Amino acid sequence: MNIHGGYYGDNNVVDYSVNINPLGLSSHIRQAIIDSIDEIDKYPEIKGTTTRNAIAEYLHIDYNKIIMGNGASELIYLYARAIKPKKVLIIEPTFNEYRRAFELVGSDIYDYMLDSNNDFIFNVDEFATMINKVNPDVVVLCNPNNPTGKLIDEKELLDIIEIIRNNNSFLFIDESFIEFSDRESIIYKSDYDNILSLRSMTKYYAIPGIRIGYAVSNNKVINKMEEYKEPWTMNTFALNIVPKIIQDIEFHHKISKWITTERDYMYSQLSKINNITVYKSYTNFFLCKLKYFSGNMLNLQLLEKNMYIRVCENFQSLDDRFIRIAIKKHEDNEKLINVLKNIID
Ligand SMILES: Cc1ncc(COP(=O)(O)O)c(C=O)c1O
Repeated sequence: MNIHGGYYGDNNVVDYSVNINPLGLSSHIRQAIIDSIDEIDKYPEIKGTTTRNAIAEYLHIDYNKIIMGNGASELIYLYARAIKPKKVLIIEPTFNEYRRAFELVGSDIYDYMLDSNNDFIFNVDEFATMINKVNPDVVVLCNPNNPTGKLIDEKELLDIIEIIRNNNSFLFIDESFIEFSDRESIIYKSDYDNILSLRSMTKYYAIPGIRIGYAVSNNKVINKMEEYKEPWTMNTFALNIVPKIIQDIEFHHKISKWITTERDYMYSQLSKINNITVYKSYTNFFLCKLKYFSGNMLNLQLLEKNMYIRVCENFQSLDDRFIRIAIKKHEDNEKLINVLKNIID
């Protein structure tokens, strides 16, 4: 198993290590769960057809281009198992489940490593050279990226897709954090003949305990994944809440207002602290680099104040000086900034 964020000790600890919307559940979720209790003596729909239809309608795309999963994590492993690509190029540092999923099916893994000293900037020419050299079957890109928070510029992303297409490769793009950015999914800008877009519902809807996600791709890839998928991996509660929450306009407005305000606030405050470099983020967390401290040392001191952050030592090319901080409600953001100032500055 890979190591992830998440604090499982004292409930009083504010957990800045998980990138979950802190405003909590849409008001419809609780009711949908209660209403679903009477259905748990039946098997859930095997392909989640009703939910899949609701997503198709919401995204204005064809039902056959969608597959549902028990969180985005299931779909990463399912894609790897169904496609079994020989060569996979991963744009690193990034979420470490891609590497594990492809290693488990015997793919050869290549890295296109973005440099922290160069603000993790993506260089399209350098990437094109690497594609020519490696000739991967699949390229994996997380956008916005976990843990860097970076979002590739739309024009560059279309160039990247073109380079991948010209090489007859396929882009596996994880857009699980796209709703926290001001950008639409790439599925609206490019046809999906050589793309799969992965979407977790965990982070934005604050439902990591429910386990639901989906992917959008061409019919061939979706059918292949369906062929390899275990039955009934999505439970009744997960399937029943989705049609209710995706249409909740009030919820979308609330999140959008919070993220725009608090991301600016956190960036300006973190930038003012000495001995810490903050990387600009387009999503709901910040990657930072500590100058003199180890993130683990910092966490020991933070825990005394009931706070916990993610130390990024197990991401490719990062070490324990890199930390990831989730954006929370304003009062929690303020508290963390004050404590960090006292400890680090
Ligand atoms: C980039 C990224 N993709 C996918 C996932 C998995 O999400 P889920 O909870 O839907 O399995 C995570 C979880 O942290 C993530 O960071």
